[in-house]
Amino acid sequence: MNVLDSFRLDGQVVVITGGGGLLGPVHGLAVAEAGGVPVLWDISLSAAEAAADEVRRATGTACEAQCVDITSQQQVEGALAALLARLGRVDGLVNNAARNPQVGSAQPAWSRLENYPLDAWEADLAVGLTGAMLCSRVLGEAMAARGGGVIVNISSDLGVIAPDQRLYRQPGLPEDQQPAKPVSYSVVKHGLIGLTKYLATYYADRGVRANALAPGGVEAGQPEEFLQRITSLIPLGRMARRDEYKAAVVFLLSQASAYMTGSVICIDGGRTCW
Ligand SMILES: NC(=O)c1ccc[n+]([C@@H]2O[C@H](COP(=O)([O-])OP(=O)(O)OC[C@H]3O[C@@H](n4cnc5c(N)ncnc54)[C@H](O)[C@@H]3O)[C@@H](O)[C@H]2O)c1
Repeated sequence: MNVLDSFRLDGQVVVITGGGGLLGPVHGLAVAEAGGVPVLWDISLSAAEAAADEVRRATGTACEAQCVDITSQQQVEGALAALLARLGRVDGLVNNAARNPQVGSAQPAWSRLENYPLDAWEADLAVGLTGAMLCSRVLGEAMAARGGGVIVNISSDLGVIAPDQRLYRQPGLPEDQQPAKPVSYSVVKHGLIGLTKYLATYYADRGVRANALAPGGVEAGQPEEFLQRITSLIPLGRMARRDEYKAAVVFLLSQASAYMTGSVICIDGGRTCW
């Protein structure tokens, strides 16, 4: 097969969880531009619908939106049944949904390890890990039953390294009041890499591949001081643009990565090698 043809996703149906967020619509664009049919799942129907509109307008191709709480196996099964009734197949899953608690607030110390609320920890794990596991087993079985498919887990550079808590410091606050990147983010993002390896070996003989993408931070209007601090930790000297993960998502979803399973691709401007 011609190498560029091996990246095509013609006719393939790919579910993207968290499809209404910052990166979900761009993963959808990538799938549509490669000829596939993205299906955007989000707990917010309005966000998923706006994202699907964006993809349809940009590509002129089909893109669907569904309201799904991925922490509910019943909702995941129901959404898959509705999708199969309309589109007849599912070929790929991008586990992209997350809760991203904002660091820094009126009470910055809330995100510190010793203070992090147990209900926030449980909600973060429910979306980031339980949701990814539920979607993987429900869609994984459907894909295996059809002879194969692909799962892509969206981890993070913080799935490979620890957060540098100096990035989040606020001047003038005592040590015990300084904000911190929540512990749940590290655990979810490292956990997704563990889930990737589990799924890769579990499904290997049934044709379902699983890999992880570990993206670095995307520039999205962060304060100048934060930008200066984080870019000093990135060899390429800048945060990512929103569209810089599209090629990797298509590579991982397509035949171009046919001999790859259980692996992690870091695309982070070099941050994890420094
Ligand atoms: N943005 C970045 O800089 C960056 C960097 C590295 C990794 N990532 C990872 O990429 C992924 C996407 O990031 P993003 O910036 O687009 O996040 P985002 O917060 O903008 O989007 C996440 C989406 O998930 C949805 N969601 C939350 N709970 C859900 C549930 N129970 N069921 C279904 N949907 C639910 C939210 O409604 C939201 O639309 C995340 O996994 C994130 O950790 C992001």
